[in-house]
Amino acid sequence: MADALISVLLEQLASVVYQHTNQAVKLVLNAEEDVKSFSSKLKDIQAVLEDAEKKQVADTGVENWLAKLKDVSYEMDDVLDEWNTEILRRQVEEKQEKEGENALVTKKKVCFLMSSVCFCFGQANKVIHRHKIARRIGELNEKLTLLIAAEREMYGFHQSTKGGPDDQQLIQRQKTSSLVDISTIFGREEEKEMLLSKLLRESSPKVGRFLVIPIVGMGGMGKTTLAQLAYNDEKVTAQFDKKVWVCVSSPFDEIKIAKAIIENLDKNETQKSSNELETLLQCIMSHVKDKKFFLVLDDVWTENPKEWESLKLPVIMQSCAEGSRILVTTRKQEVAKMMGANSSMIYLDKLSDRDCLALFNSIAFLDRKEDEAAGFGAIGEEIVKKCKGLPLVAKTLGSLVRYKKTRKEWQDVLNSKIWELEKIEEQVFRPLLLSYYDLAPAVKRCLLYCAIFPKDYNLEKDKLIELWMSQDYLNSKENKEKRRKGQYYFESLVMRSFFQDFVVDEMGNIERCKMHDIVHDFVQFLTKKECIIIEVVKGDNQIVELRGENVRHLTLTRVPYGPLSFPTSCDRCVNVRSLTLLDSSITTISPGSVLQMKCLRTLNLSWSGLTELPKEVGELIHLRYMDLSYNPILKVPDAVCDLYNLQTLVLIQCSSLEKLPKAMGKLINLKHLYVLGCWKLRYLPKGIGSLKSLQALDCFYVCEREAAALKLGDLGIMDQLQGSLEIRRLGNKDDASETEKAQLGNKEHLSHLEVVFQDEYGVLRKHGVDSEIVKALQPHQNLESLGIEWCHIGTTESLYWIKSLHNLRKVHLRFWLFCEFWPPLGKLPSLEILEITVMDKVKKVGVEFLGIEEEETETTFSGILFPKLKRLSFYYLSEWEEWEGITKEEDSSSSSSSEITIMPRLSSLQITECPKLKALPDFLHKITTLRTLTIESCPILERDYQQGVGKEWHNISHIPNITIQSH
Ligand SMILES: *[C@@H]1O[C@H](CO)[C@@H](O)[C@H](O)[C@H]1NC(C)=O
Ligand SMILES: *[C@@H]1O[C@H](CO)[C@@H](O)[C@H](O)[C@H]1NC(C)=O
Ligand SMILES: *[C@@H]1O[C@H](CO)[C@@H](O)[C@H](O)[C@H]1NC(C)=O
Ligand SMILES: *[C@@H]1O[C@H](CO)[C@@H](O)[C@H](O)[C@H]1NC(C)=O
Repeated sequence: MADALISVLLEQLASVVYQHTNQAVKLVLNAEEDVKSFSSKLKDIQAVLEDAEKKQVADTGVENWLAKLKDVSYEMDDVLDEWNTEILRRQVEEKQEKEGENALVTKKKVCFLMSSVCFCFGQANKVIHRHKIARRIGELNEKLTLLIAAEREMYGFHQSTKGGPDDQQLIQRQKTSSLVDISTIFGREEEKEMLLSKLLRESSPKVGRFLVIPIVGMGGMGKTTLAQLAYNDEKVTAQFDKKVWVCVSSPFDEIKIAKAIIENLDKNETQKSSNELETLLQCIMSHVKDKKFFLVLDDVWTENPKEWESLKLPVIMQSCAEGSRILVTTRKQEVAKMMGANSSMIYLDKLSDRDCLALFNSIAFLDRKEDEAAGFGAIGEEIVKKCKGLPLVAKTLGSLVRYKKTRKEWQDVLNSKIWELEKIEEQVFRPLLLSYYDLAPAVKRCLLYCAIFPKDYNLEKDKLIELWMSQDYLNSKENKEKRRKGQYYFESLVMRSFFQDFVVDEMGNIERCKMHDIVHDFVQFLTKKECIIIEVVKGDNQIVELRGENVRHLTLTRVPYGPLSFPTSCDRCVNVRSLTLLDSSITTISPGSVLQMKCLRTLNLSWSGLTELPKEVGELIHLRYMDLSYNPILKVPDAVCDLYNLQTLVLIQCSSLEKLPKAMGKLINLKHLYVLGCWKLRYLPKGIGSLKSLQALDCFYVCEREAAALKLGDLGIMDQLQGSLEIRRLGNKDDASETEKAQLGNKEHLSHLEVVFQDEYGVLRKHGVDSEIVKALQPHQNLESLGIEWCHIGTTESLYWIKSLHNLRKVHLRFWLFCEFWPPLGKLPSLEILEITVMDKVKKVGVEFLGIEEEETETTFSGILFPKLKRLSFYYLSEWEEWEGITKEEDSSSSSSSEITIMPRLSSLQITECPKLKALPDFLHKITTLRTLTIESCPILERDYQQGVGKEWHNISHIPNITIQSH
């Protein structure tokens, strides 16, 4: 991990020496010399780091030496950042002076006499501060000299011949590859059959009412994969009334498990917040009584019968219907014994070399041509022997060599010394280490950072990238580049199988993923001194357990109700750079504790119950990321505006928050501001308008009457906005001209736009200027998703621009209470998902919806309409009677040569609460790709399409998944 730290630090040092020398805030002269000498020494060290990193796993001396090197590097990083912050402060002051000259002339005059004294004092302070920084640089330089001497004397590391792959290489090879998420299972057919038969077999006197089936095997054997296959098996799904999957892990916590089961059974269940085990168990019982219940407990560690018995699963299972099952995966046979389930155990043994090879090859040669693959076979077989029959290892190594193009590179993997390391706890760590060493230094850091999360945690891609950014792992001058770099790093970890269990959104992008247990063990093994997760003990509101010398990233779970406060003796916090709270219910965090964590870069207090944030956070000058979302805070302290390094501020669903600090314009590094769901927030402060390089603003609250409010037109200069933007409370008198000034058409990186017309109090407005506003909304043609709600327009003319949005993939239109038509969408080449909800005035939908222009009649147009549409949904269209398709003469000889295809890819159609709709258009009957048709509360359609007997039934009977019902 030191190599990543150092390569980033070197870049910073270089920019310090070469860039800042011209800056207004100069370092004191000799400090510059020290910085140069420090850099050159660091470069010498960098050359031997690869060797040192590999040796440290087997040699504690080396490990200690590296730890010291890291300390020096971290400290240097802090010093440089302080210096940089000094420069930022200066910039902000200059900017304010300039702005002040215009606005605050009078105020300044009054203050002048008073402040001149302070002013001089301030200057002197700064000079002293600069001397302090210079002195610290000098000291660090000396420490580094000593480290180098020690290295020469004791270790004599070898220089590495080549470094890891650089970014350019990484980007290059990623272009040609795709995601590896192998779902086929190699060499486990027999076990799978055995498992299914145990699950599905009817109960017998010998088996009893229910059965516990343990899957036992060492880490990386594929236990979870096998359990997942069974869990998702169609026959299994059909046979059980209730299915629940819970990840148990260690420590065994019966309350948490019981809660997870309830959460799975019913998201709404109010009992789930109870902390009484008995209540929770009763609640589970009430849900599964007399039901055929299938429970999976993944990754059980406890061998303690007392813990196991506390869950009272046998009692619960006795109340279920016969044939219920518990499936347990565990690394330990003792667990199976403890459960009294030895006889039904399925033991996963090593794979044969042949199966391992098949798995390895399936990944290693995934996108290689056959002739390309030839010649690697023999080396591949040798590598596979090192897998020792572990599928996870085969998969990891397959992913590793997948990007190695030459025989030599394959040979290097095979000859790697890591195979010989003795000290590594688990066999599987060795191949993981191989893959790990192959990563670029910065990517390594990104991977290791994931150690701050507990096992089985859902890693959200976009958040993760922002976290990496906050730790300065994505070093790049251009901020736009940083995000892209984060994407590449994420993908390269995906492709090396460090991540798995991907969840993609409806547009097909990876939203989140997880780490395999063992990968998690592995990153924790590598970061064991730096990243710590502590469960705070109940009834003891102090974090006493904080061991380890140099905790850099601290995660606290289950901090009990009350203020969070570290013991004053706890000087271990001084180096903490990330603090994350999970599963906690604090009220505030004590000022003293805040001041103990001066190095903090990342602070996540979301979902923590926080009602108040102390103003001392303003002193966390290094802070870059602050997440306060989902908390009942009333106020963000003004001092937050002094955080010149802050890049990300997350306030999502702070539903009590009424106001943001006025001086937010001082946050010159702010790139991401998230305020969605802050319903009480009346407006965003005007100062934000000067943050020209803002990249993410998820919600804009229009407020016309307030002078201190940011105006929509102020978004005009923010041409770097990307991702999603929601504009709410639109529809005021001036909004058309403000919308025009906002220049949405220039925001080429914006992918989702959502606009909600509604006045400040959510009251329905009188007919207004909406059509002018809609005209002015015209976004850039890169837009992928568009939503418009509560818009008062009679026709869709003002939406003329929608036809030019060639990249639009998703559209939803809701509550257009006065509009009689649907916009022309048929010719949008990329549209995949369309939803229309509540349009009370629409009676008839004609060809205008298909996008056919008036001058083109149905006979002259030919082509495909809605070429990519996959999902179409209509909800609550109370007056809708007629849906016209294309009325084409069956007798084709007389009509012209036009050929029209409509919605050739449609796979799902949903129509809900359209009580007057008389029929579906003919073209729908002909769509062969339609898989799901749902008709709910549409009496006429229900009658005509009724299964078997309706007069139109024959037109839809080919669709596999039909639901027709009324409520
Ligand atoms: C959960 O609550 C929502 C809203 O209260 C309700 O619409 C939904 O049907 C409930 N779901 C279940 C499973 O009870
Ligand atoms: C449990 O089963 C395994 C294999 O099925 C066997 O080797 C072991 O002896 C059994 N242990 C007990 C206590 O029955
Ligand atoms: C912050 O904490 C919340 C819950 O406490 C968690 O859901 C979220 O994923 C965390 N965010 C990040 C970026 O780690
Ligand atoms: C069948 O339709 C229902 C809803 O109408 C949907 O939830 C389900 O996923 C569909 N099943 C398949 C296999 O497509």
